[in-house]
Amino acid sequence: MDLSPHTDLDVADLHPAVGDPALNSMNFLNEVAQRYPDAVSLAAGRPYEEFFAVADLHRHLETFRAYLADDLGYGPAQVHRALFQYGRTKGIIHDLVARNLAVDEEITVDPESIVVTVGCQEAMLLVLRALRAGPADVLLAVAPTYVGLTGAARLVDLPVRPVAGGPAGIDLADLRAQVRRARAEGLRPRACYVMPDFANPSGASIGLADRRRLLDLAAAEDLLLIEDNPYGLFHADGAGRVPTLKALDTGRRVVYLGSFAKTVLPGARVGYLVADQRVRDADGTVGPLADQLAKIKSMVTVNTSAIAQAVVGGALLAHGCSLVAANTRERAAYARNLRHLVDGLARRFPDPSPVRWNVPAGGFFAVVSVPFPVDDALLRRSAEDYGVLWTPMAHFYDDTAPVAALRLSISAVTPGQIDTGLDRLAALIADELARSPVPVARG
Ligand SMILES: Cc1ncc(COP(=O)(O)O)c(C=O)c1O
Repeated sequence: MDLSPHTDLDVADLHPAVGDPALNSMNFLNEVAQRYPDAVSLAAGRPYEEFFAVADLHRHLETFRAYLADDLGYGPAQVHRALFQYGRTKGIIHDLVARNLAVDEEITVDPESIVVTVGCQEAMLLVLRALRAGPADVLLAVAPTYVGLTGAARLVDLPVRPVAGGPAGIDLADLRAQVRRARAEGLRPRACYVMPDFANPSGASIGLADRRRLLDLAAAEDLLLIEDNPYGLFHADGAGRVPTLKALDTGRRVVYLGSFAKTVLPGARVGYLVADQRVRDADGTVGPLADQLAKIKSMVTVNTSAIAQAVVGGALLAHGCSLVAANTRERAAYARNLRHLVDGLARRFPDPSPVRWNVPAGGFFAVVSVPFPVDDALLRRSAEDYGVLWTPMAHFYDDTAPVAALRLSISAVTPGQIDTGLDRLAALIADELARSPVPVARG
């Protein structure tokens, strides 16, 4: 870091988002991880790297090329153009994404309602940019929430108001209260952001009955729901899958966000959105919200890399467009790791213990609550003195109140590394408990 007094610009003269903790969160966590490369990382939410092989990239590209030529009947010049040139703003694998949603999720959508994006992150930005029409607009989001959502909202000057999550994934009474409170203040809640399946960071899921109630509430309150579902395929052993909100959505209430980062590969940076809400354009024509979002995309990333889409498209084609089929090995490994983590916590913190944790029905994350505040300074000490990384839950709340909990991730590690990480975490917690414990408000 350059601390010399001479500067050319003041951060106060840049968009307020750049000085916001939400935008620094990922940088901070990456910086800690880079500084302590030998620490066991129960922080990283990235997929397990041993699942990837360079040869797969070539195979997927060739599969997609053959699909263009044989299934779509493209001549050599068309294949060339599709792979090498600038492309359609809404993407070139929208038909395959629609097939994937039909096969795996029983979601039926017109491919024209799909925009293929540069990761799910771009999908969030496009939706929030479009929904933020004026200064009265606000977004509701289940707290704790994914920091990428909060950061994207900051970039488009859209305030985020928390809705209580809790073990059921969403507190519907609080959602109704927050909608009404915002309206009473003259504000316009545009949507509520939810992760119904194995949320990041809480690991919580919304049950089927509550999903139906949530859709009813959204209809009654005339609210959109933004459903983000990067982890839905990774259910734990013995836990079934629950239909997505979008699969249950008969009234076009749900804008669905998808990511191929966890189910294909994050390096491709490919995600998508489904926005089938009908919008009347200035010229009177009616089309899907996806068309409006594509206008924004055309000014942000122009189009998602054709090569990256081809790799993802080839991976989809290789398994009849089923990512459930493509991820049988991955699902089993993540389920095994999650079980290993939860069992390991139970062994290290037997009852009665002031340390508590949830048992998610799937996904990458579990939350451990402790009787002392968990902040960035404690993470640094954990990395330096104990050799284990995790994520302070404070990063997922949009305020500065102390939080007595941390997020553990099982996706990038082996069971052996989980054991080592938990041993180190248990040593840290024991030492913290031996200091005078401080009661804190939120766990
Ligand atoms: C809840 C959630 N949404 C979105 C993303 C970002 O997905 P992508 O890598 O496709 O941009 C992540 C990544 O960790 C996530 O956890």
